[in-house]
Amino acid sequence: MEPSTSQTEMLARHRAVIPNWVALYYEHPISIVRGEGCYVFDGDGKRYLDFFGGILTTIAGHGIPEIQEAIRAQTEKIAHLSTVYLCEPMVELAEKIASLSGIEGAKVFFTTSGTEATDTALLLSSLYRQSNQVLAVRNSYHGRSFTAQAITGNRSWSSTSFAGLQVNFVNAARRRGVPFACFEEDEFRAASVADLRDVIATATAGDVACFIAEPIQGVGGFTYAPNGLLGDFKEVLDEYGILFVSDEVQTGWGRTGENFWGYQAHNLTPDVITFAKGVANGLPLGGVITRPEIMDCLKANSISTFGGNPIACAAALATIKYLEDNDLQTNSLKMGDRLSHGLQSIADDHPWIAEVRGKGLMQALETENPDTYEPLTAATSAFHEETKQRGLLVGKGGLWGNSMRITPPLSVTEDQIDQAIEIFADAADAVADKL
Ligand SMILES: Cc1ncc(COP(=O)(O)O)c(C=O)c1O
Repeated sequence: MEPSTSQTEMLARHRAVIPNWVALYYEHPISIVRGEGCYVFDGDGKRYLDFFGGILTTIAGHGIPEIQEAIRAQTEKIAHLSTVYLCEPMVELAEKIASLSGIEGAKVFFTTSGTEATDTALLLSSLYRQSNQVLAVRNSYHGRSFTAQAITGNRSWSSTSFAGLQVNFVNAARRRGVPFACFEEDEFRAASVADLRDVIATATAGDVACFIAEPIQGVGGFTYAPNGLLGDFKEVLDEYGILFVSDEVQTGWGRTGENFWGYQAHNLTPDVITFAKGVANGLPLGGVITRPEIMDCLKANSISTFGGNPIACAAALATIKYLEDNDLQTNSLKMGDRLSHGLQSIADDHPWIAEVRGKGLMQALETENPDTYEPLTAATSAFHEETKQRGLLVGKGGLWGNSMRITPPLSVTEDQIDQAIEIFADAADAVADKL
């Protein structure tokens, strides 16, 4: 369906003043004006099931009364005070997050985005270790700043490596289309650990600052290391004193269903955790969690004017309470299972859907030509369009843009999952007719 004049005009205004590299989804991008639970509404009043949540961010759902009330109450008291004054919501949130982190005696520094959290983790690790060397994972994404770009392992998201870091990328997460793809899980684990050792021995000076990994790669299309592999890595890293940074920007707060944090699938305790996205259900908040000796190794003054903003912190406290009170991690596990089964049955009918993968409500489909194993980037875009036309919003991703990312709020119901599966099935049939 063609968009209305008002949506077309909005697109023209957007294109005139917003950078070209801020990509918009869909042939006819939509302007979203309202959200309610698991649904959003566009400027023409059309309703969509929101199975991307503003990139995994509205984790509890849109317009949750308990969270809205916390935001309203804090707004009526004070909107901003900066970090040079004591801020009770910030301290209370830091206490809560530290207690959830699994890191003993943890301290928390708040930022306004995941990128700044990445930057801070790199800053602290390099100061603590007095090293500019970093190990990252191939196919990774950790943000858009100068330093975060230097540790990006995904060509379509990597704009420059100019930052003054010496970065090496190791194999851990991507399982299809890589040299280790032929290996069974145990062999893959052993080969990846051997490769890590080899990279440290041959490409670094040994005194690497940190290794940073997403327990499930977000932009990378929800690819992930076999359970336990990152724990194997941690044992090697510990031999050198290399810090382990777990980027939990997408995988935190129970999203994966099986665990509260993604790292918990790997039998390790990270030295540093970064978080953002879902923590405040859409208000801008991110941060870094680490042990006092790492956090306090920074000896200059350092602040974030907006980091730890009281409204964002009040929203985060209410979001975490809502997730806990409603046991949404368990819902993520159950609904993720239902979603994954539904998607798998569609994939069974469509050989070009090569893989369904994910944990909890972080599920992806990857497409591939079944004869040549080439990624089907155009077909994935068509699939994405077909789902939108039928009233379902999901994300895209993967190294070759051939994955769909499906991440409803953790409050999603069985009925909503079933509606989405029906839409996926119809959309897949429509794509198959054109292949
Ligand atoms: C794993 C991961 N880390 C960091 C970031 C950067 O977060 P932000 O976009 O809030 O700066 C992202 C964003 O998508 C991400 O997926």
